[in-house]
Amino acid sequence: MTFYSRIAGTGSYLPAKVLSNQDLEGSVETSDEWIFSRTGIRQRHIAADNEFASDLALKASQRALEAAGVAATDLSLIIVATTTPDMVFPSTACILQAKLGAKLGGLNCPAFDVQAVCSGFVYALTTADNFMRSGQYQNILVVGAEVYSRILDWEDRTTCVLFGDGAGAVVLKRSDAPGILSAHLHADGSHAHILSVPGSVNGGKISGRPLLQMEGNAVFKFAVRVLGEVAEEALAANHMDKSQIDWLIPHQANIRIIQATAKKLGMPMEKVIATVDRHANTSAASIPLALDTAVRDGRIRAGQHVLMEGVGGGFTWGAVLVRM
Ligand code: UT7
Repeated sequence: MTFYSRIAGTGSYLPAKVLSNQDLEGSVETSDEWIFSRTGIRQRHIAADNEFASDLALKASQRALEAAGVAATDLSLIIVATTTPDMVFPSTACILQAKLGAKLGGLNCPAFDVQAVCSGFVYALTTADNFMRSGQYQNILVVGAEVYSRILDWEDRTTCVLFGDGAGAVVLKRSDAPGILSAHLHADGSHAHILSVPGSVNGGKISGRPLLQMEGNAVFKFAVRVLGEVAEEALAANHMDKSQIDWLIPHQANIRIIQATAKKLGMPMEKVIATVDRHANTSAASIPLALDTAVRDGRIRAGQHVLMEGVGGGFTWGAVLVRM
């Protein structure tokens, strides 16, 4: 018997505080015009001081569980993709498991984090699908949750205007038909230097500089190339033509990267989900946030084909093709 994963419910959460481009004009030398024309971003959400990745993940997960009609106590696995965990350990997934009360059902509910930066959700979804295919799991919660506001240099206008905080989640149910059709992951560590947070904990002190640094142009070119390649790879693996894709959900980093990727694939922007204007780049949360937005506003419907693709630090990239 072959087991597959089906997305049974989606959810997302954005912190209450909104930081507009105009707000940023007061703190760094920038303008709404520069930010919007170069990135498509108008605003981003910022977590409160007492809100951590697990708090954002909790609210997104509760909404996804409700949409799926699954109780937290019926979860058999939790995977959280994050680059901004609550602490060094325990994992944000274990903290989330406790906050959800997922262990209370008496089930064995393992929980762990996946760290693949902006490809994190695609990596986590792929990992979950492989667990599901083993036949040992019934309901899997996959979350992308980030508080990038904590790892930004708020005096560096080349990076601080690009990112935001948020979380998105999906509940996968075991199914006898896919669901997730295929997944394709890649990494190339030789490009680590163009996007990194080069700091670590060392003897109780922080060593290095634990703030995001990026060579924007190099990242831009790399992202456009690999997003195009991995989309073609997913289509070829399923013997599908791009015309059969109902919706493309690329990682939400920059509208110009999204447009260039759609153009390469020959897909009209009407078939592309873009939330970067309101959310900015929320790293591992960006794809599930966009997915949930389009599911809840009625654009993405059951039976449609959705191609999700991520790219980020590492470098990592990947795609997951799903029948909803
Ligand atoms: O998830 C993956 C993570 N990151 C990304 O995907 C980001 C990928 N890269 C990008 O999106 C773009 O490269 C950026 C939006 C970061 C930059 O856009 P760009 O068109 O590549 O601009 P640039 O870096 O070539 O900078 C052009 C100018 C520079 O001034 P000079 O040297 O020409 O005088 C920058 O100093 O714009 C200046 N600049 C700014 N000006 C106003 C850079 N940041 C800002 C700013 N406001 N916030």
